[in-house]
Order: sequence, then C-alpha cells, then structure tokens
Amino acid sequence: MKEFKGKNCFLTGAASGIGRSFALALAKRGMNLFITDINMEGLEKVKVEAEKRGVKVFASKCDVSKYEDFENSANEFHEKLGEVDLLINNAGIGIGGRIDDIILEDWKKVIDTNLWSIIHSIKAFLPRMLKRGSGHIVSVASGAGIIGSAEPLPYIASKFAIVGLSETFYGRLRNLGINVSVVVPAIIITNIWKPDTTNFEYPPKLLKDFGKEKLDEVYGTMTEEILKAGISPDLAVKRYIRGIKKDYLYVFDNQGYYQLLAMKGNEPRQFENFLVEMQENRINGMRDHFHKHGINIEDYM
Ligand SMILES: NC(=O)c1ccc[n+]([C@@H]2O[C@H](COP(=O)([O-])OP(=O)(O)OC[C@H]3O[C@@H](n4cnc5c(N)ncnc54)[C@H](O)[C@@H]3O)[C@@H](O)[C@H]2O)c1
Repeated sequence: MKEFKGKNCFLTGAASGIGRSFALALAKRGMNLFITDINMEGLEKVKVEAEKRGVKVFASKCDVSKYEDFENSANEFHEKLGEVDLLINNAGIGIGGRIDDIILEDWKKVIDTNLWSIIHSIKAFLPRMLKRGSGHIVSVASGAGIIGSAEPLPYIASKFAIVGLSETFYGRLRNLGINVSVVVPAIIITNIWKPDTTNFEYPPKLLKDFGKEKLDEVYGTMTEEILKAGISPDLAVKRYIRGIKKDYLYVFDNQGYYQLLAMKGNEPRQFENFLVEMQENRINGMRDHFHKHGINIEDYM
C-alpha cells in the first residue's frame, strides 16, 4: 500500500495502545477511518483526536469475538466510507496463567478474541475486496506467534494461528490484487501488560498462601522489569507503517526476530537448545524475583 491519503481504513481495538497509535498515525497521513472497539469511552477519545487531523472518522462498537458485530460494522463501514483499502485486525487479549492452571474458559476467551476475530473479519470483508481486486489486510500477531515462548499458552496458540493464516492469505490473495501483512510486535508498552487487563490467573496455592495484593505487587514489578525492554506504541506503529507501505508480509519492530527465524531454519539443533534455555532463563529470573519478595517459589513449582 503505497499511498494512504484519501483512502479508507477499518481498524479493530482502536481505543488503546497499538490500535490507538495506528488510528492517529493513519489520520495524520490523510486516511479516513472507521475505528472499532468494545471500550467506547476510549474509542470516542481517539475519534476526537483523529478528527483533528482533518479526516473522516466513524467510531462503532464491535466485539471482534462476535460475528454479528463484525457484520454490522462492515455494513456500516461500506455505507459510510465505501470500499476498504486497509483492513487492520488489531484487537487482542492475553490471559496469563501457568500451563497446568489455565482454565478452559480462558482458552476459549482468548481464541475467540484473537483468532475468531480474524476469521470474522475475513468473512465480513474479503468478498467485496475480491470483487474489487484490491485492498490490504493487516493482522497483528506477536513475537509469541513465531517463536514458541513462555506462557500464556492460549495467546501463543492464537498468535501462531494468525501467522499461519496470514502466510496462506498472502499466497492466495497476492495475485488477486490483495496485499497481506502480519505485524509481529515484540514488547510494546500498552495496557495489555496491566494486570487488570491481562487478568492473570495466579496459581491457586500461591494465591491462598500470599493473597492477591502481594501477588499483584510481585507480578507487577516483574512486568515493569520486562517493559524496560519495550518501546512506545507510537514508535512501533511508525515501523509497522513503513513495512505496510513496502507490502511486506512480515512486519517487525525488532530486528532480533530475523536472527531467530534464521536460526530456526538453518540451525534446527541450536534452535531446539534455544527454546529450552529460554525457558530455563525465564524460570531462573522468576525464581530470583520471587526470592527478592520473600517467596520461595520452588515450593509452588
Ligand atoms: N503490547 C505488546 O507488547 C504486544 C506484543 C505482541 C502483540 N501485541 C498485540 O497487539 C494488539 C494490540 O494490543 P495492545 O498491546 O495495543 O493492547 P491494548 O490492551 O492497549 O489494546 C487492545 C485493544 O483491544 C480491545 N479489545 C479487547 N478485546 C476486544 C474485543 N473482544 N473486541 C474488540 N476490541 C477488543 C481493547 O479494548 C483495547 O482497546 C493485540 O492483538 C496484542 O496481542 C501486543
């Protein structure tokens, strides 16, 4: 997608973080927007900010896990703005929890939001894009969707699926005039990392012995440590727009992923060791962190 000015974008999860930054950056480049989210208060604020850039902005409630919402929003989009030039599937959630503690409802919630959203989006928008023979589909995956990493497992499963679908869409749609990109964020400082949003399922025995307040403090400071390696959503989106403009399939904000993917292909034994070492380092780091807070985490592993 070479030019944004005067074109139309449909965007999910626009009330916060990466979605908000996408909305404002695209408005700045002259793109008309149809922004959606379940957080209407946040969405209205983004609408007001984006309108200041002199473009048309429509905001609508769309729970991406529900097809009826997607269908209604797509119909409204087509009525208000016409055809879609840029379709950004950004909304996503992460629910934390250890491999043996994650409840089935959380698996379902994450897959419904992160993966079914892409299926709903394609179902609602692709037929008209195919008829027209143009458009660009961008789905926001994660580094957790190209390298098997730590928990949360439902998140990883959903993001690997988004990457697989995006590769397939690329192969099947590219020669039909439709571009496809998959955005692979590394660590971006947004609300998804806030414990209340992430809705972390604490290990039950740990929760019983130390209480929620203490665990919020321990996990909160652990997250702060991780976020020291993060970047702002505005900077990340600047990098994503650069990749989208070049019609790249994979769009990264962190060059380190190129090396990891190369290792996966060229040095599979080394990659296997890397996966194990990464987990060990993570567990060691977590152990040290809990010790600092007076908790002997070994008793709970
Ligand atoms: N922040 C990171 O470090 C990071 C890393 C990798 C991938 N990602 C991905 O980036 C995307 C954006 O996340 P973010 O970091 O900006 O988080 P965020 O929490 O700031 O924003 C996510 C937005 O999605 C919305 N949302 C949640 N469930 C929804 C639903 N069912 N329907 C519609 N909207 C819904 C939220 O209300 C929120 O506005 C997500 O897909 C996330 O998985 C983020």
